[in-house]
Amino acid sequence: MIDKSFHIITFGCQMNANDSRWLALSLEDRGFVRAEAADAQVVVINTCSVREKPEQKVASALDGVRRVTRGDPRVLVAVAGCVAQQMGGKLFSPGGQVRLLIGSDGLVRAPGAIEQLLAEPELRLSLLDFTDSYEERGQVRGAPVPVARVTIMQGCDNFCAYCIVPFTRGRQKSRAAASVLEECRARLKEGAREICLLGQNVNAYGLDRHGDGSTFAGLLACVAALPGLARLRYVTPHPKDMGLEDVSAFGDLAPLCPRLHLPLQSGSDTVLKRMGRKYDSRDFLNLVERLRKTRPDMALGTDIIVGFPGESEKDFGDTLNMVHACEFVSSFSFCYSDRPGTRAALFPDKVDPAVSRERLARLQSLQDALTRRLLEKRVGQKTEILIEGRSRRQEAGKTSWQGRDPYGVPVHLVLSGNTEDYTGKMVPVIITQSKKYTLMAQQAGGLCAEQSNFEKAGPLRKDLPANPCAGKAKKNFTPGA
Ligand code: 5AD
Ligand code: SF4
Repeated sequence: MIDKSFHIITFGCQMNANDSRWLALSLEDRGFVRAEAADAQVVVINTCSVREKPEQKVASALDGVRRVTRGDPRVLVAVAGCVAQQMGGKLFSPGGQVRLLIGSDGLVRAPGAIEQLLAEPELRLSLLDFTDSYEERGQVRGAPVPVARVTIMQGCDNFCAYCIVPFTRGRQKSRAAASVLEECRARLKEGAREICLLGQNVNAYGLDRHGDGSTFAGLLACVAALPGLARLRYVTPHPKDMGLEDVSAFGDLAPLCPRLHLPLQSGSDTVLKRMGRKYDSRDFLNLVERLRKTRPDMALGTDIIVGFPGESEKDFGDTLNMVHACEFVSSFSFCYSDRPGTRAALFPDKVDPAVSRERLARLQSLQDALTRRLLEKRVGQKTEILIEGRSRRQEAGKTSWQGRDPYGVPVHLVLSGNTEDYTGKMVPVIITQSKKYTLMAQQAGGLCAEQSNFEKAGPLRKDLPANPCAGKAKKNFTPGA
């Protein structure tokens, strides 16, 4: 075991990955070093229960840690995230290695708690309380990355019938705009070219009582104007919270990429109502039309749940029709599964799992065909990719780099006889081939100038108000909201 060393195992979404990154960097700031699980003095399992039955996964991760550390009682194991929040003290078993539980809002105190627990081997700590407002975590400095993910809000107030998030991540808390901007500036200074703003319901930013008068569109305009930024994205918005100004931002803000992940969940109005989504299929289609009027090349992605309680074959057919009509370039789709404590867990008319699986397969094959068709259309097009690192597969005598185009599609660029590190570079390319989910490209000219944007969406808004991120009361596009 290496003294003052740590290992973090992460499950789940980008928010969780971002939390793990912060924890790792702040432990490094306190003199800890990274290590393999077998050698680490501190092992953190950062969990997610949004879609998976988490208990078994966490139990097997804990077994794995116990095996590789041979149950060494000096090893401090922490469970963070959704599962810690849900299972609480049940995770402290007699003689077990778990001595720390970290909830979403407890993360900020985790580095201090880890130091305290190492000094006091008999102690156990639970950081599961929800705080009243977004607590700043303090800046941490990491190795520069081309794409910086910056959290702008925590939690969610929507209580969609199937979703555990409001219970595990708590109520919505917007982060102060000044802190968001400060972190964005710092990450750009480190070398990031793209910023992705993160939150469970990003476009409701500022609408909770913790807001400081900033609106989502105001914040977007402020971030878009930061020097050094080439690309801006955000995830995840709720269709019902898409304001008119959020739509027009796609025409106004040059760095805002023409790609939006817009969770549909179901194409059936009956199911949407039972899910508590507060929009119907017509609202969603209107929104899509409006987005495409603003940015005709807009690429849309989505999330879909199949087999929600009561979903009939006709409801599922409505979902397939919507997927067709919206021409999603990609979708994440899941079979519904009960989450304890949610409303849908109590709905009586559960769909047979075999039927759900069969529907999921049909949906995914429709999506695969759509994706293939949309990607094939890209062959021959000129675009620009931001290189995120080397591709996993390399050919002899060549170097292959992996990045994304403005539409968020992964693109591989193969170079021969060039050993320069392309990470973080913006490269003009021509798409040469489409694969199932990715594109292949060839370099088309010299590297782009430091601040250039290849595909301009329109002029940058210059008329920022006095509180730069403030805005007018939101007018939602979906009338039902
Ligand atoms: N069952 C299946 N999928 C779910 N999701 C959230 N909760 C559930 C559940 N209980 C999916 C939704 C959401 C994504 C993050 O996970 O599609 O958008
Ligand atoms: Fe969950 Fe998203 Fe609904 Fe919030 S808006 S409850 S995070 S599905």
